[in-house]
Amino acid sequence: MSNKPDLPYKAPRAAPPSGPAMWVRGFAIGDVRVEQPFALAPMSGVTDTAFRRMVQSASQGAVGLFVTEFISIEGLTSYNLLAQTRMAFDPKTENPLAVQVFGADVYRMVEAAHIVEQSGAQIFDINCGCPAPKVVRRGGGAELMRDPSRLARIIEACTKAVKIPVTVKIRSGWDDASINAVEVARLCERAGAAMIAVHGRSRQQLYGGEPDWGLVTQVAEAVEVPVIGSGDISDGEIALERLRDSSCAGVMIGRGAITNPWIFGQIRQLIQGQAATEPDNAERLRVLHAFHDGMLGYMPAGAVAGRLKQLLSRLTKGFPHGMLLRARVLREPTPADMFAWIESFFAALDDDSIEDWAERARQRERARLRATRGGLS
Ligand SMILES: Cc1cc2nc3c(=O)[nH]c(=O)nc-3n(C[C@H](O)[C@H](O)[C@H](O)COP(=O)(O)O)c2cc1C
Repeated sequence: MSNKPDLPYKAPRAAPPSGPAMWVRGFAIGDVRVEQPFALAPMSGVTDTAFRRMVQSASQGAVGLFVTEFISIEGLTSYNLLAQTRMAFDPKTENPLAVQVFGADVYRMVEAAHIVEQSGAQIFDINCGCPAPKVVRRGGGAELMRDPSRLARIIEACTKAVKIPVTVKIRSGWDDASINAVEVARLCERAGAAMIAVHGRSRQQLYGGEPDWGLVTQVAEAVEVPVIGSGDISDGEIALERLRDSSCAGVMIGRGAITNPWIFGQIRQLIQGQAATEPDNAERLRVLHAFHDGMLGYMPAGAVAGRLKQLLSRLTKGFPHGMLLRARVLREPTPADMFAWIESFFAALDDDSIEDWAERARQRERARLRATRGGLS
């Protein structure tokens, strides 16, 4: 006879919906809950707080996990300005957030972990994948995958020092001849890492060639802690396919979110069985404003303009006269002037007067050149 207590009778529920709603679920990194298994990947020079908040706004709150750009432990522990800027985050919008650092010195790493914990960030993440010579030469980034005993010491020391989970982001290995992500992941888990993110390319591959999702799957199956896979997820369908086929707890999206900050919201729509909606031009304009406003206050005006133009070129790639718009905006001295051109561009696209708009933009350029020549004579 069974000694299990009888369970109260429950009427059978309606058949569960088929499709991703059945199998997409949140997971935990230590005691940090990640409700939606889709993370915005760290990208140096791109994913600062303004960018992360802009993506969360475009995707209507569907980003499940944020990671800062990597920050040098030397910069962080000497409180330099760049490190402080990279540490900036809005705890309400960017939550949960991992602060990612790079470096190789155990003591500095522990000090950095304390600083991150005190900042209120939920997770301390160690970069073991950066391929840049100036990082690997000093023992950090992908070089840590060639020095596993140092990596283990770093993780052990950090997990002892702080209460927040310590995580790592690795690559497949150094080069074709030394693919060791599975071994490194096992070692990181033994040392106390609470999550492992894997970009399925080697250091040698940089960002070219194909990411090896077969290897990412092997890593996910080799450890008990959650694994987040990364590499070439360019739309919502691919995100769901990778999540379904890889045994990963979650997936990370990097470059796909630069050209399409709406991608996380589109994934949510697909999960709910809806078609992913494309943003209209009013939404593009709103997102550009949100990004611009988010940068004010912590970035010099010149840098704000530069970043705005960068995003503009991503969001208008392939648009008729998009190049003309970017050249035009480049010449404008103030954000108000820039936005005047951007707004008129989108309006002209919407009411089919883009050729007239292009002619106005050319005239403006000719007038500018005449004025410059006049000024020189
Ligand atoms: C411009 C750029 C900067 C990056 N910076 C970082 C970084 O600071 N830390 C990190 O772990 N990975 C960094 N990566 C790697 C990404 O997080 C990601 O793993 C990789 O781009 C593959 O994903 P994707 O195809 O979705 O972009 C960077 C990638 C790019 C393109």
